[in-house]
Amino acid sequence: MSILDVAGLTVRSGAGALVREVSFSLEPGERLGLIGESGSGKSLTSLAVTGLLPDALVASGSVLLDGHQVVGARDADLRPLRGPVAQVVFQEPLTALDPLMRVGRQIAEPLRRHLGLRGAELRSAVAAALDEVALSEPRFARAYPHELSGGQRQRVAIAIALAAKPQLLIADEPTTALDVTVQDAVLSLLERLVAERGMALLFISHDLAVVSRMVDRIVVLRDGLVVEEGAVGQVLQSPAEPYTRMLVDSARALDAFLDAKEAGA
Ligand SMILES: Nc1ncnc2c1ncn2[C@@H]1O[C@H](COP(=O)(O)OP(=O)(O)OP(=O)(O)O)[C@@H](O)[C@H]1O
Ligand SMILES: [Mg+2]
Repeated sequence: MSILDVAGLTVRSGAGALVREVSFSLEPGERLGLIGESGSGKSLTSLAVTGLLPDALVASGSVLLDGHQVVGARDADLRPLRGPVAQVVFQEPLTALDPLMRVGRQIAEPLRRHLGLRGAELRSAVAAALDEVALSEPRFARAYPHELSGGQRQRVAIAIALAAKPQLLIADEPTTALDVTVQDAVLSLLERLVAERGMALLFISHDLAVVSRMVDRIVVLRDGLVVEEGAVGQVLQSPAEPYTRMLVDSARALDAFLDAKEAGA
């Protein structure tokens, strides 16, 4: 069975449809990229998949998360799925973190709730979770989010998302807010954890270089519609759709510009 099966997903606001009849599926352990220009509906698709759309927006169609219907489900029914089935890492780590709670306690929360850990077992699981994201020093567990760098905060957000051992990780532009060297370190970390755990990954980005590194297959969104889908190498090397070609060409033009700048510097 697919870990995620999206069929005819439509998201509407009062003004009209923002995501239109989107369909794709993800098998256990598979890595899928969602690409498209700013405003093409990538984030709304990821929010609809986890039942986290804002109240003003309405989803229709079908989203099966490990066989459970998300569209129209009550929040109380979705909560048990959020730890062990699917978790989201957002672009801005502060959205996932509680500013008033020490990092160690925030990581302990899903371990307690979903895995039932307590006492010494819980403490050692928190230490292991921090260790896994390369934040092993004891000061990190005691820190508040504002005492960490952007890259460290994103590592904490990843540790929280992974705590209950989800089968699917959804990452929405997880490194866009970070500078390039930190971005690379966080991507390598995600890559390693996804491979080690055999997790499925839905990776959202407008950066084609980053996407091609992280996934095997991509879905291209334009104005809320899927315009192309296929193996990452095939789609990026010989795009069938003019829109995908335009995305690839503008990424190439940017790369060439940056290479030339570097050579000149
Ligand atoms: N709460 C909302 N109410 C009304 N329209 C919204 C809302 N959230 C997003 N939209 C609109 O829906 C469309 C898709 O937004 P979405 O955030 O999914 O884009 P995106 O592909 O993630 O873009 P980006 O790359 O900039 O993150 C945009 O036109 C946006 O203005
Ligand atoms: Mg977005």
